[in-house]
Amino acid sequence: MSPYLTIHEVGMRDGLQLESTFIHTERKWELSRTLVEAGLRRIELSSFVSPRAVPQMSDAPALFERTRSNPDAAYTALVVNEKGYDRAIASGAKSVAAVLVPSETLSLRNSRKTASQARDFIRYLLKRAKEDQIWTRVYLAVAWVCPFEGAMPSRRILDLAKQVNDWGADEIALADTIGHAHPLEVGRLCESVGTAIGMEKLAVHLHDTLAMGLANAAAAMTAGVRIIDSSFGGLGGCPFAPGSRGNLATEDLVLMANKMGFETGVSLAKLYEAIRMVEEDLCKPLGGRTQNWWIQNQAEQLQQVKTA
Ligand code: COA
Ligand code: ZN
Repeated sequence: MSPYLTIHEVGMRDGLQLESTFIHTERKWELSRTLVEAGLRRIELSSFVSPRAVPQMSDAPALFERTRSNPDAAYTALVVNEKGYDRAIASGAKSVAAVLVPSETLSLRNSRKTASQARDFIRYLLKRAKEDQIWTRVYLAVAWVCPFEGAMPSRRILDLAKQVNDWGADEIALADTIGHAHPLEVGRLCESVGTAIGMEKLAVHLHDTLAMGLANAAAAMTAGVRIIDSSFGGLGGCPFAPGSRGNLATEDLVLMANKMGFETGVSLAKLYEAIRMVEEDLCKPLGGRTQNWWIQNQAEQLQQVKTA
């Protein structure tokens, strides 16, 4: 049996949060359904944050209401405070993600909490979620490089991961929030964190700013990681972290994983339908590094069918 790579699709949240063109709720739901039809079974759907801070995510409650009658995928809600958690649960979320920013400067900018207050919140959130039987994921943001503080000490990230694991997180995602990590350090940290908390609980969240998204994904997979975040069409970037750019594109990750002998359960043809849809909504071209190959390959296949 082929090994399986689980893809945590973050385009609807990490991707769209940056976009100023508002996509209405019904269309967002249609996009998510297309992603699920493409075979993606984990969708980070929206975030319950201040609508003034991130207007694109203001319809999170309406979106999560729709997930109640669609249990065919795990829909994750990002929360940054207790109010967000309460709103997410009230809207039917069964899976929440929270961000722990190990850099003091970025933590203040992102959540207006000091790193220590942010830790207290995560601890509280994990306890409540356990009581409420809610699945939890904690992102360790800027796990390699912070836009304000530079290289992050790997010891600090390892200790935080252990702590968050002891507090009961179901999954921990090491995030290269601004896309400045390189494959050697990604491999090293994944190995040490995976050994400490269990590789099956470890995910990596990658951005492609320096064109190392795929190389970093390969390094994480070589270290044993089997859960990787990506975003359809390569949408993305964090508005609170200067320099962050598009996420690793799901279509690139699927193609690489397939070549490496991994199953992902994702249909590229259907995935490209979702990419074309969101391109139309945002009026801009999207797509990962492998897009040109895909288009040409499809055209050739069509030609073969015609001449057969
Ligand atoms: N959902 C909805 N509204 C919220 C909220 C939430 N989870 N948290 C705060 N708010 C609202 C408050 O009601 C208040 O609104 P008001 O001014 O109309 O009364 C306002 O936001 C400020 O609330 P406050 O408790 O003082 O928050 P804060 O200033 O300490 O923190 C954040 C504000 C961090 C909650 C806000 O800036 C935010 O949501 N940022 C988005 C962070 C994000 O999305 N990061 C991307 C993930 S990497
Ligand atoms: Zn991100």
